[in-house]
Amino acid sequence: MDRRRFLAVSGAMAVAPALAQAPTAAVAGANADEALFKAVNFYDDGLGLSSREYAVLLERMSSTGTGIAADNYSNGGLIAELESRFAQKLGKAAAMFVPTGTLANHLALRKLAGADRRVLVQAESHFYNDSGDCGDILSGLNLVPLAEGRTMFTVDEAAAWVDRSAGGRVPIKVGAISVESPVRRRDHEMADYDELVRLSRYARGAGIRLHLDGARLFNLPYHSGRSLQDYASLFDTVFVSLWKHFNGASGAILAGDKDFIDGLYHTRRMFGGSLPQAWPAVAVAAQFVDGYEADYARAWQATDRLIALLGRDRRFKLRKLPAGTSRYFMAVTGDAAAFRDRARAQGLLLSRPHPQTGEFAMQVNPSVLRTSPETIAQGLSAALGA
Ligand SMILES: Cc1ncc(COP(=O)(O)O)c(C=O)c1O
Repeated sequence: MDRRRFLAVSGAMAVAPALAQAPTAAVAGANADEALFKAVNFYDDGLGLSSREYAVLLERMSSTGTGIAADNYSNGGLIAELESRFAQKLGKAAAMFVPTGTLANHLALRKLAGADRRVLVQAESHFYNDSGDCGDILSGLNLVPLAEGRTMFTVDEAAAWVDRSAGGRVPIKVGAISVESPVRRRDHEMADYDELVRLSRYARGAGIRLHLDGARLFNLPYHSGRSLQDYASLFDTVFVSLWKHFNGASGAILAGDKDFIDGLYHTRRMFGGSLPQAWPAVAVAAQFVDGYEADYARAWQATDRLIALLGRDRRFKLRKLPAGTSRYFMAVTGDAAAFRDRARAQGLLLSRPHPQTGEFAMQVNPSVLRTSPETIAQGLSAALGA
């Protein structure tokens, strides 16, 4: 594992170089720095870096080797390097940096749909629920939400809507289908790979373009046994978030074929999305991309051990989801709020318990590798009290 990434993940981070350059008046910060890179968070997609931790990593990057190559309005430098790394990882010919995933989905779907503005989406998707209807309002897309309350629609459901649209008094061609997997609003459940293969075959046969909201795509291979490229090959365009797994401050990559990506940076700029300097948002992410899949696999191995250890204590109840990826659930007997506070004091950071069920939604990320499952299990048991 790359040493910088190892230090950040493992908690053995040596902050000395950064501190050595800090003014001596900042000595009060030295104690605070002892706590850096140590917390285990059970609620974030990534390490959940604090602003200080982020700044330390950025400083280390900029002072190592040739430093960070700045971009110009989100073109060139480190940004261009990241774009080609992602294109290669996803098996696509080209890729473009976009400052947010919301804009990446929007740019992809408006271009894929072209003149055929009806777009099929999952009812539970981020694009349908959490993007302020940007596709409708800003790009004249007509989103048709499918599979309400479920993770994914079937090919038959999609085909039925395509036929229905074509058979209206004014025939409408569906221009694009968008798929999110894993699905955030479904506790990160994933779409079935074989169903995606069928959907892709169907859409290609019908001349309908396909987009993948793969904000958390890099978690899928561990659970499905299918590679990033297996997934990406089924879709015309793929978006991956830079700030979720890879600990960037913001950012997204949109990958596709060359014709699709060529010139798209003009549209990015039209939407105010060409940051004059994007490198501070993604330089940290660049360190984590290559090792992420291996880190995530190790994080799940540690989590399985943790679940087994907690399972021996009858006060803990643990539950996984059938098509789950990065989330499981934990319930405890006793005062969940007090338990959470005591866990926090030990650097074990939990989400708020669900108001109805009392369960904690537990997120798997590489921060769990900062200590041993045994230490975490002991800490959680102690937080529950005698
Ligand atoms: C599945 C999914 N898609 C898209 C987005 C949007 O990404 P961003 O917050 O970078 O706009 C998110 C963010 O939470 C997401 O979870």
